[in-house]
Amino acid sequence: MKFDLVIKNAADVETDCLVVPVVDKGEKDRPQAAVLSTEKPFHDVAQELIASGELSGKALELAMLYRPAGVKAKRVLFVGGGKEKKFNPNDFRKIAGAAARHLKSRNIRNVAIALPSSVHFHADNAVRAAVIGVLLGDFDPDTYKSDRKDQRLESLTVVAPAGSDEKLLRAALDEGRIIGESQNFTRELVNEPSNRLTPTILADRARQMASETGLHCEVLGPDDIKALKMGAFWGVAQGSEEPPALIVLKYSPAGAPAEPVLGLVGKAITFDTGGISIKPADGMEKMKYDMAGGATMLGAMRAIAQLKPKVKVNAVICASENMPSGKAQKPGDVQIAMSGKSIEIINTDAEGRLVLADGLTYARTKLGCTHLVDAATLTGACVVALAMVNAGIFANDDAMYERFEKARHQAGEKMWRLPLDDEYRDMIKSSIADIVNSGGRYGGAVTAAMFLKEFVEDKPWIHLDIAGTAWVDEAKPFIAKGPSGIAVRSLIEFVRGFAA
Ligand code: BES
Ligand code: MN
Ligand code: ZN
Repeated sequence: MKFDLVIKNAADVETDCLVVPVVDKGEKDRPQAAVLSTEKPFHDVAQELIASGELSGKALELAMLYRPAGVKAKRVLFVGGGKEKKFNPNDFRKIAGAAARHLKSRNIRNVAIALPSSVHFHADNAVRAAVIGVLLGDFDPDTYKSDRKDQRLESLTVVAPAGSDEKLLRAALDEGRIIGESQNFTRELVNEPSNRLTPTILADRARQMASETGLHCEVLGPDDIKALKMGAFWGVAQGSEEPPALIVLKYSPAGAPAEPVLGLVGKAITFDTGGISIKPADGMEKMKYDMAGGATMLGAMRAIAQLKPKVKVNAVICASENMPSGKAQKPGDVQIAMSGKSIEIINTDAEGRLVLADGLTYARTKLGCTHLVDAATLTGACVVALAMVNAGIFANDDAMYERFEKARHQAGEKMWRLPLDDEYRDMIKSSIADIVNSGGRYGGAVTAAMFLKEFVEDKPWIHLDIAGTAWVDEAKPFIAKGPSGIAVRSLIEFVRGFAA
């Protein structure tokens, strides 16, 4: 998609469709639509729609007009942003996404969007939100549809009023493009089925992305993994015919201080059958998305490489299948992790924490990471706790949590902190080894996080359980059903926060 910025009256912009935001500034039960434009023609043409109740400003409500008087665009699409008092850049992002999805399904390819007037956030935030929203809305997981007619949007023109700071807004446009495209890069990977995205292929994709963006990339294979004594990682990988890959990306910009060194560690199980503790057949096809944590880190690194914050960042992606076979690990087996800790395997389906254990140790001891973040589709228990609405956040350090929370809020992603009290440590005690890999039914998201905590030592650390949120089960007006790309934006903001 092509992006452009024009600074002029929106009524004078020639386009297939101009998107204009509307909010509701009424009291509770008495909606009162207000068009977010200072230009008279938009108020004039909206009058009858508002009077008839077809336009109330309610969130994501759509009303299309053809060739309205006094406006050069072929169409005007009014999109509701909800209550005026709460209206923020995230609402505007959703407006842009809903407009994109509505228009692309009607074969309208060239679109303009007017920045909202008289709102309490800055115009550059609105530009970023518009570009990200349109890119995310434009995405459909239709790679393998043979009748896929290319419905992608061709161009987006962001229209800013006269007197706007062009340099600032152009920079925001570029940033929005990098962030939106990177989130879609993640979604594209997550959508791939496991026969088309093995650990080896994921590593190839990472290498290619790295060479395009100037990142350093190194891929460790089975022999390296064994030589590093990554017994936890290898225990998972040993059951598969597909070789595992430990993908390492390094971003080290000139002028960055020696510390901090951020480490982004991702779970990339390209297919999770459960192993010998095999999963039921029903719904197992979804387990192709068990590599979403790794894909999240790849998307974040792709953006970081282009946004160039002055801070060192490494990513470690633990890619493997989890398969049952004659070579697979079995319940009761004991594996020695790279850190030296011994793990009694209670359930081979609790494989994510095993690969991450060694990924975290590698980031800490071999890459010198001072701060760690991991992302993983780790537990069904997190889905039970928070459903598909919030991702789970765990942190062993409040300052680190506050930093992440700020970034998450800026990025407009939903996540909720869950506890890591010492009391939970008892639930992963083993009678024959240091720890077990499964704490049982109760508090499953927490005991999985407690397991990971064993491997971060004293480093400030954030764990994101994205099991429920990495996949959108029901399409929303602004996003297709399928991979969500959750956490990519929060991670980008988090990393940038260290450089600011
Ligand atoms: N990949 C799954 C977790 C998952 C479940 C992701 C549902 C997305 C949707 C993970 O490897 C797993 O199987 N976890 C087990 C752990 C249990 C055996 C302790 C689970 O959550 O059931
Ligand atoms: Mn599993
Ligand atoms: Zn898994």
